[in-house]
Amino acid sequence: MSPPQIDKSAQDTLKQEAAAAAVELVEDGMVVGLGHGSTALHAVHGIAERYASGVLGNILTIPCSRHIEMEAKRLGLPLATFDEVGVIDITIDGADEVDPAFNVIKGGGGALLREKVVAQATAREVIVVDASKLSPHLGVRWPVPLEVIPFALRPTLDYAASLGAKAEVRRMPTGETFVTDQGNAIIDCAFGPMEDPRVIAARLDARAGIVEHGLFLNLVHDVIMAAPTGVRYLVKQVRDGSG
Ligand code: A5P
Repeated sequence: MSPPQIDKSAQDTLKQEAAAAAVELVEDGMVVGLGHGSTALHAVHGIAERYASGVLGNILTIPCSRHIEMEAKRLGLPLATFDEVGVIDITIDGADEVDPAFNVIKGGGGALLREKVVAQATAREVIVVDASKLSPHLGVRWPVPLEVIPFALRPTLDYAASLGAKAEVRRMPTGETFVTDQGNAIIDCAFGPMEDPRVIAARLDARAGIVEHGLFLNLVHDVIMAAPTGVRYLVKQVRDGSG
C-alpha cells in the first residue's frame, strides 16, 4: 500500500503534531538528544517552550548538528557534551523512511553521523514522522546517504555502484558539493527496496572512506506518526531475525 500523498503545508502541520506528542515524553531531569531536520526542529521548539515556562526543569540537551545547536542556544536550552553526561535518556529525531520493524533511513538533512552517535548513546530513541515516511521496505522511497571523506569520493561511488546502487554526490541547490558538519561529503545511494537492509549495512560498514551510512537498524524504540486521521504510536512489527 503506498503512503498517502500530502501537500507540503499539511505535511508540516503533521510533522508538528508528531513532534508535539513526542515532547510530552520528556521529563524533568532528563538528558535529551535533539535531532536534526524540520520535524525534529518542531520538537526542539516544543521542548524549549516547556523549559521556558518551567514545566520542564533541570534538563540537559545534546544537539545532532551545528544548526540545531545554534537554535537550542538561541532558545535558551541548556547544552551538554558527552564529557558531561553518560547516557542520553531520550532523543527525538525525524527520519526519511521507516519500515514496520522500526528500521529507518536518516540523513536527508546531512546530519546522519552525529544522529547515529546520539542514537547509539540513547536509552529511548523516538522517531517522529508524518505518514508519508512509512514504507513496507527501506529503499522504496529514499536513497541511503553515506558520509564519505572527500579523498574517498570516487572509489566510494564505484563501490556503491558495485553493490547495485545508483549513486550520486549530494549537491546544494547552487551546484556546490554538500559539506557535512565534519567537513565530509554525502553520497546518496538509491538501492531500491531492500529485503534485508542488514546485508547492505554490513557492506557499507566494511568499506574504508565511508564514515557512516544512513541505515539506522535496531536503534529506534518508538515511532510517532501523524496522519490526517490523527497521531499514532506505532507498534513495532518484528520480522524473523530482523529485530
Ligand atoms: C537529518 O539528517 C535527517 O536524518 C532528518 O531527520 C530526516 O531527513 C527527516 O527530515 P525532516 O524531518 O525534515 O523530514
